[in-house]
Amino acid sequence: MSQESIGLIGGTGPQGRGLAMRLAQAGFRVWVGSRSPERAKETAASLNTQAGTTNIEGAGNAEVVAGSKYVLLTVPFDSAVQTVEGLSGHFTAGKVFVDVTVPLRFEKGGPTIVELPEGSASAHLRRIVPEGIPFVGAFKTLPAHLLEHVYTPLECDTFVFGDDESAKAEVMEIARRIPTLRPVDVGDLGAAPFVEGMTALVIRINRTLKSREGRYRIVGAGS
Ligand SMILES: NC(=O)c1ccc[n+]([C@@H]2O[C@H](COP(=O)([O-])OP(=O)(O)OC[C@H]3O[C@@H](n4cnc5c(N)ncnc54)[C@H](OP(=O)(O)O)[C@@H]3O)[C@@H](O)[C@H]2O)c1
Repeated sequence: MSQESIGLIGGTGPQGRGLAMRLAQAGFRVWVGSRSPERAKETAASLNTQAGTTNIEGAGNAEVVAGSKYVLLTVPFDSAVQTVEGLSGHFTAGKVFVDVTVPLRFEKGGPTIVELPEGSASAHLRRIVPEGIPFVGAFKTLPAHLLEHVYTPLECDTFVFGDDESAKAEVMEIARRIPTLRPVDVGDLGAAPFVEGMTALVIRINRTLKSREGRYRIVGAGS
């Protein structure tokens, strides 16, 4: 496993699968992680077939973290703390943690955000990711349904935040390599509650407009 590779903890779900294929199509070496190495390998093979790639591989979550430079967390928020704590020994210097989780609760009227003492999933998780590991939030508002339709252009923005400017720039560069996706720097970890709230909002918008592919594009600023 190359140190420059991108790993996804819980990469077997819709969000992880979609990101894995988009990143593989952009030329990255991608590792799909799972609690079950077998499931990870089967998923990776199926994703390569779907995306027309050969650079997605599967392994257990611990192996994926140990072997990847960029580690994306794509498990449900409810299991995020336990998952990260269980893997923390594998977060060695030089890695970058990328949080994709959103603390959603689905209620009758639509999704709402679970209230957390730190104000966001990212701030909550920052406390448990080992201190020396840069923490970046990204890809939180991209709908899995669209990501998985790998031949449909994304044509949207993704909001990227974090306290470590250099790690944030690296993650933005990764996002920029995905065709028609534009990374937008939204500042430090303080942006997390707004970005996570935007995910709840876009799900509500999708319900109203009977879509599964609504996403954000900031107009009138940059290109
Ligand atoms: N779906 C979307 O459109 C979307 C959009 C933006 C952000 N997100 C965020 O992205 C994350 C993943 O979303 P998703 O829809 O792909 O989630 P998901 O399908 O519910 O879960 C993803 C993977 O997490 C692993 N997992 C499930 N329960 C676990 C547990 N108790 N402990 C450890 N691992 C567990 C499973 O992998 P294994 O069983 O193989 O280990 C599963 O395939 C979530 O935090 C979500 O808020 C999702």
